[in-house]
Amino acid sequence: MEQFFHETVLLHETADGLNVREDHTYVDCTLGGGGHSAAILNRLNGTGALYAFDQDEKAMAHARERLKKHNSELTFISSNFEHLKRELTSRGVAGVDGVVFDLGVSSPQFDEAERGFSYRFDAPLDMRMDQRSLLTAEEIVNEYSFEDLAFIISRYGEERFAKQIARKIEDFRKRTSIKTTFQLTEIIKDAIPAPARRKGGHPSKRTFQALRMEVNNELKVLESALKQAISLLNPEGRICVITFHSLEDRLCKQIFKAASSMPDLPPGLPVIPEGEEPELTLITRKPITAGEEELNTNNRAHSAKLRIVEKRKGDG
Ligand SMILES: C[S@@+](CC[C@H](N)C(=O)[O-])C[C@H]1O[C@@H](n2cnc3c(N)ncnc32)[C@H](O)[C@@H]1O
Repeated sequence: MEQFFHETVLLHETADGLNVREDHTYVDCTLGGGGHSAAILNRLNGTGALYAFDQDEKAMAHARERLKKHNSELTFISSNFEHLKRELTSRGVAGVDGVVFDLGVSSPQFDEAERGFSYRFDAPLDMRMDQRSLLTAEEIVNEYSFEDLAFIISRYGEERFAKQIARKIEDFRKRTSIKTTFQLTEIIKDAIPAPARRKGGHPSKRTFQALRMEVNNELKVLESALKQAISLLNPEGRICVITFHSLEDRLCKQIFKAASSMPDLPPGLPVIPEGEEPELTLITRKPITAGEEELNTNNRAHSAKLRIVEKRKGDG
C-alpha cells in the first residue's frame, strides 16, 4: 500500500477533551489517517465502541489497515458525516458519549496532485473529497454566473478581490474553458493588483479554499452535522471540533453558544423552570490552540482551533 501520512493536529488535547471512558460509545466524524481514532481506541482499551466516518475511500482503506487490530470495537462508515444520525440509527445506536470533528482535507489529499486541491501542482480542477459526488471545481468556474462566483469567492474565501477574480474567470472562459489548477492560478494572479499579491500568502489560497468549500458544501454540512451530534449526545457526552478557518470556527461558536445560553425567560423568575436549562455547557470559552512544540513540527497546526462542549447532566 502506498504511503499515507497525516500528522494529527491537537491529538492529546482532543483525546483529553473528549474525556474518553471505557465501555462508552464514540464517533470520529473525520477518520483521515486515523490519528484521533487510534487515541480514542487506546483509551477505550478493548471496550466500548468507536464509529468512524470518512467520505474519502482512500483514507478509509488506509485507516482500515492501520487500525485492524481494533476490529471488534471499531465500525467504519464510508459516508459523509452529514448523515451522522441516519447511519448511527441504522446500526442501532441512539446515543453517543463523544463526537470528534477534525475538519478539512488531510495532508495526503492535498499532496495527491490529481485531486486538484492544491495550487502547488498542475492538475484538473476537481476538489471533491468524495469522488462519488458530481460537482467539481471545473464545473463551478466554467458554469457559475459572475455573481455566484463573486459571492462564493468573497464569502467562503474572504477574498477582497473576489469581483475582479470572477470577472477575469468570466473573460477567460469566453475564449476557452478553464481546466487546470495552474490556468486558474494565472487568472487569479492577473486579477489581483501587484502590491496586494506580494502580501497575505499565495494569491490563490483564498479562492481555492472558497471553491473547495463550495464543491463539498462544507458549511451547510457542518451546521447540520453539529446539530445532529448535539442531539445524539448522552448526558455528559462531549463534542470536540477542530476548525482551520474563521468561517468554520464562527459557525461552531454560534451553534454552541445558542445551545449553551439561557432561553429568554420573563424577568423575576426565582428558578429556571425545568426543561428550560440550556442543553450544553461550554468546556472551552476560548478555543484551544497548538502549543509551541506542535507549531514547530506541524504546519497545519497554526490555524487549528479546538472547541469543546458537554451535554448537560440531567438531559435525556
Ligand atoms: C483533517 S483530516 C482528519 C485527520 C484525522 N483526524 C487524523 O488524525 O488522521 C479530515 C478527513 O475528514 C474527511 N472529511 C472531511 N469532511 C467530511 C465529511 N463531510 N464527511 C466525511 N468525511 C469528511 C476528509 O476526507 C479527511 O480524510
